[in-house]
Amino acid sequence: MPLLIDYLACFPLSKEDERLMMRAFDAALAAEGVSHVCYVSLTVCDDANIQAINKQTRHIDQPTDVLSFPTISYPDKQTAKDVPWFLQSAFNPDEKAVDLGEIFISKEHASKQAQTYGHSLQRELCYLLVHGVLHLLGHDHITSKEKATMRTKEEQAMKKMGLPEPDKNGMLKLAIEAMENSYSPYSHFPVGACLLTQDGSLYTGCNIENASYGLSNCAERTACFKAVSEGHRRFQAIAIAAKNTAPWPCGACRQVLSEFAPASMPIYVTWDGNTLESTLGQLLPHAFSPEYGIDAFLGKEK
Ligand code: THU
Repeated sequence: MPLLIDYLACFPLSKEDERLMMRAFDAALAAEGVSHVCYVSLTVCDDANIQAINKQTRHIDQPTDVLSFPTISYPDKQTAKDVPWFLQSAFNPDEKAVDLGEIFISKEHASKQAQTYGHSLQRELCYLLVHGVLHLLGHDHITSKEKATMRTKEEQAMKKMGLPEPDKNGMLKLAIEAMENSYSPYSHFPVGACLLTQDGSLYTGCNIENASYGLSNCAERTACFKAVSEGHRRFQAIAIAAKNTAPWPCGACRQVLSEFAPASMPIYVTWDGNTLESTLGQLLPHAFSPEYGIDAFLGKEK
């Protein structure tokens, strides 16, 4: 059954992120057992926008992560699963779907929270959407009992939508295999990489050197360019393999990765049977990237 999100963004999402948000919406409805075709008006904005809405509607002059405004008012303490026929009252014949209401998400707030919790911005955006949709379905978190019920539903929905988690050991193995294809007759330093994209695809790469030394390409960037040229725009994790020393990515690769990855992205390195782990944010703090830097450059300072 099609589920609709009428999506409007001051801070646009990539097509891949939009697809994930649709899955999150679907999973939130399923967690409540809603089988009606439903839609929400979702606006992805920044802290200043959400602060203005918060002030106007709730007289709270503070930014926040998510605000939701339900169309349906459910009977006391009841939610959509208790009174499914209430959904019919918000049926919009033009959309041929139930209008659940409006949700505002601050991408700026979400990105700070993702860093705090150490997960991806995508996971945070999906979680906030799930939270907002549950509000539109009558849930609240005023009492501890309500809070626990809502949290359980959130977890169910996040599990159901199944954001793929990185398989660290599998990725390290693929990076070691990719190292075998290295073309490094000048440095004799083979490197292999394995990159995981947001939708769970894996891309490997090796370093490719050139007689004109400066034209050499690192393993990480080979994997990155392979993924981007196949249409991917968000990365979840990278594994890098070499011999004799820990192959932490060079500065150029850190910058290139930060174009497509959150600061929280894990970086696994392996050499001679050893492994270490860090994050892109630890290796490249205060990055000049779409997520954390370029908006300031464009005059949209956060
Ligand atoms: N290299 C990589 O593949 N990744 C890095 O992050 C650092 C360096 C390669 C480039 C060159 O082929 C060789 O290692 C020696 O610098």
